[in-house]
Amino acid sequence: MSVACIIPAAGRGERLGGATPKALRQISGKTLLEHSVRAMIAAREVTSVVIAAPQESVSQVEDILSQIAADVPISVVVGGQSRTDSVRNAARAIPSAEIVLVHDAARPFVPAEVVSRVISAVRAGAPAVVPAIPVTDTIKHVDAAGRVVHTVERDELRAAQTPQGFTKTALDQALADHQTQATDEAGLLEELGVPVLVVAGHSESMKVTRPLDLVVAEAILRRRQSDRMM
Ligand code: C5P
Repeated sequence: MSVACIIPAAGRGERLGGATPKALRQISGKTLLEHSVRAMIAAREVTSVVIAAPQESVSQVEDILSQIAADVPISVVVGGQSRTDSVRNAARAIPSAEIVLVHDAARPFVPAEVVSRVISAVRAGAPAVVPAIPVTDTIKHVDAAGRVVHTVERDELRAAQTPQGFTKTALDQALADHQTQATDEAGLLEELGVPVLVVAGHSESMKVTRPLDLVVAEAILRRRQSDRMM
């Protein structure tokens, strides 16, 4: 079964600050996008990659990709107003594939074992699969006035990561209604009543969102480099 990978990379990264789009911010001399693409193709099952880039950065993204000696086709499309729009634009450009992964450009260090786990679960029959990790904070549901409504039972909570994996049919179903938006594609399918399976994610598959996340990401990379030297 062929496995296409969509990487939405068209976000502005407002919470990170700075003028550069988030996916083009660097960690140890390489953009988040390059790290993310390398992480996804390191999982040997991925057969093609489509990236949704900010309109003004398409040629810069093409230059970055030309540095990667990939043995799978990688193409670039223009992203949209929202993450869902960016994924929709990329989905139109994927070559025929039975399985589609959607991976945030902002998660540069997803281990190959997580990618393989997601793909295996789709291959085994799940229409939609999300890698996730237990949450460590106590989560409060609050109202608009800032008052706690209730404390959510922590054992039942998971923090969703990417790549999320879908049969091509399920992803098409998720994206069919052009009005709906969600912070992840699994959320769109949940609304439609499609079962979504959770598999184990990984703490190193963190999403770079705020300035401190860049510091943590640098530290993960340094540790991996020193592990390789030992
Ligand atoms: O903003 P957030 O961190 O949730 O974005 C997740 C991913 O979606 C990022 O990789 C970002 O570049 C991408 N995105 C996009 N198009 C948008 C907004 C976000 O491709 N319009």
